[in-house]
Formats: sequence, C-alpha cells, structure tokens
Amino acid sequence: MEFRHLGRSGLKVSEISYGNWLTHGSQVEEDAAKQCVQAALDEGITTFDTADVYAGTKAEEVLGRALKGVRRESLEIFTKVYWPTGPGRNDSGLSRKHITESIHGSLRRLQTDYVDLYQAHRFDHETPLEETIKTFDDLVRQGKVLYVGVSEWTADQIGRALKIADEMGFDRIVSNQPEYSMLWRVIESEVVPLCEKEGVSQIVWSPVAQGVLTGKYLPGQQPPQGSRAVDVAGGNTMKKMMRDDVLTRVQELKPIAADLGLSMAQLAVAWVLQNPNLASAIIGASRPEQVRDNVKAAGVKLDAEVLKRIDDVLGDVVERDPAKTVSPATRP
Ligand SMILES: NC(=O)c1ccc[n+]([C@@H]2O[C@H](COP(=O)([O-])OP(=O)(O)OC[C@H]3O[C@@H](n4cnc5c(N)ncnc54)[C@H](OP(=O)(O)O)[C@@H]3O)[C@@H](O)[C@H]2O)c1
Repeated sequence: MEFRHLGRSGLKVSEISYGNWLTHGSQVEEDAAKQCVQAALDEGITTFDTADVYAGTKAEEVLGRALKGVRRESLEIFTKVYWPTGPGRNDSGLSRKHITESIHGSLRRLQTDYVDLYQAHRFDHETPLEETIKTFDDLVRQGKVLYVGVSEWTADQIGRALKIADEMGFDRIVSNQPEYSMLWRVIESEVVPLCEKEGVSQIVWSPVAQGVLTGKYLPGQQPPQGSRAVDVAGGNTMKKMMRDDVLTRVQELKPIAADLGLSMAQLAVAWVLQNPNLASAIIGASRPEQVRDNVKAAGVKLDAEVLKRIDDVLGDVVERDPAKTVSPATRP
C-alpha cells in the first residue's frame, strides 16, 4: 500500500480506501462485510469511508463492529452528513442542529470518540454556508472531528467555503469526495484545478464504476446473478453506465489490461490514482476476493501511451460535463 497526504494537511491516508455504501447492512451479510474489512486491513488499507445514511444508519454500525479491536491510531475513519437519517424536517441537511445530532449518532454507531474526516455529503442550499462551516469548526475544536471535507460540491461551492474559513479563521476543508472513473470525469475541468491551487484533495468514489469497469457486464446480456446491477438499490444507481454503447467500449479495454498484466478492476483503480490531486480511491466490495484483486492497483504507474489508448477506446462515452455535479435544490 502507498500513502498520500489528505489535502494540505498532515494526515496521511491509504491511496486505496474501503467504503461500505450499498453493501454493509444491506446487499451483503455481516459475515461477508467483516471478511471484506479484514481483507482490506490485511492488504494495508487503513482508511475506511462510510456515511450516516448508508443502509438507514446500519452501515456505520457494521463498520464499527468490524473494526472493533483494531488500534484506533492505525485507522482513518471517514463519515458524512446531509442525507436524511430520520423522518423529521431537521433530520437532513447541514444545519447546526442536524450536523450536531448526526455526529453524535455516527460516533455512537462507529464506537469511536472521533472521526478523522467529517464530510458534507452534498451542498445544502437551505442553510447559510457560514452556519455549516462554523459548526464543522466547532466539532474540530471539540475533538469530535479531526478534519473536514465535502462531497460532490462544485468548484464555486468549494471556493466559497474556503473563503469563509479564511476570512473567519475557521478550519479549512481539506477534501472533496466526487464520483470519478475513466467513464465519469466531470471534476477535471473546474473542481480539480481549484482544489490543486487550494490544497484540497479528491477522495474519489466508484473508481470501477460500481463494477462496470471490471468488464463483467456484457452488452445485450442480463447482468450476472448476485451482481450489484441486479440489486434494487444498486440497479437504480447504475443505470447511467449500464448502456450497450458503454459496455461495448469497456470490453475493448480488455487487451490494454492484459498487455499490462492487470485485471480490469486493477486498471480502473490504477487509472484514477494517476491523478495527482487524488488522495485516495474508495473501493467497494461484496466479496473479500474483490478487495484483494483491486488493491493491487496501489503504486501502479500508467504511461502516457496507455492513457491515450484508454481515451481512444472510450471516446465519446466518457462524461466530462462539470454541470453534472449537482446537489438537490431543496433538502431531501
Ligand atoms: N460521496 C458519495 O456521494 C458516494 C457515493 C457513492 C459511493 N461513495 C463511497 O465510495 C465507496 C465505493 O463506491 P462503490 O462501491 O460504488 O465503488 P466501486 O469500487 O466502483 O464498486 C464496487 C462494486 O463493484 C463490484 N466489484 C468491485 N470489484 C470487483 C471485482 N474485482 N470483480 C467484480 N466485481 C467487482 C462489486 O459489486 P458486486 O459484486 O455486487 O457486483 C462492488 O461492491 C462507497 O462505499 C462509499 O464509501 C460515496
């Protein structure tokens, strides 16, 4: 495993991290979840990502149990706040009330006194940004949160948050967590240049496009049984990638992976790691073998000729429009 700084901070994270969205507490039984976490630890992953909302708060509980007994100082635990965790009108968003209540729930479920990184899971258009940034700063001062970050924020939103922090002397955000893969590159034109200048890292999600970039989904055929695409929640979130034109191009990446002696998943994870603004690629897994396969992308270098071959194969199925980074207009 290799390690990178999280933004302009002293914290080092494993360049491949493990996340439990759609798996722990839902698609995957607890035993398999624990085996995946153990495989991640065995392979040198020290950074774990979850969120209050995953599996209706159950994912944090599963991760807390799976990490129990591991030396806390050897782990970096990330969670998030924004999406609804209950039926009340204040059970979502980034108000002082919800953030404060949500961090207490997360710490209890994760069985820890602090999280290493606390992330705003989307931008909240209904809460003054000053209120959110000040509340995050308070949590840092209370020692409940060590660093703060955001997820799926636009360059403009990140820039505004940094300006408030700088003017008011509040803790600065050090990371953004966007979707990023060979197929989904919407951060490259605006978010990454601003973040490079400001010392904010990307911690990217779905580096294998939820399984699509493993090549296991074939054009014109039903998805394999037991895969995320046949899971109700997963199937919905994968629709934008499960198109025959995308799946056909992905099959054409196979010779490139074979020439490099990499699996398709390793090629996909290695590809995102070539971006120097990245601190970590968060991989998901329904089975421990997937963790052991994908983690071998750590430290792999892809040269310019390989990157060009990939671009030539994928052509216009790559999404690059920065306007695709959107948070809900009103709180969910
Ligand atoms: N901030 C956000 O809004 C946000 C959103 C989404 C995710 N995330 C974070 O990012 C993490 C990773 O997201 P993700 O799970 O979508 O990432 P991913 O690594 O792109 O997809 C993981 C899924 O792909 C399949 N897969 C992975 N490796 C494979 C292999 N070697 N062979 C075959 N299939 C393989 C597995 O699904 P099956 O076996 O079921 O097919 C696995 O659960 C999440 O857990 C979460 O922490 C954040």
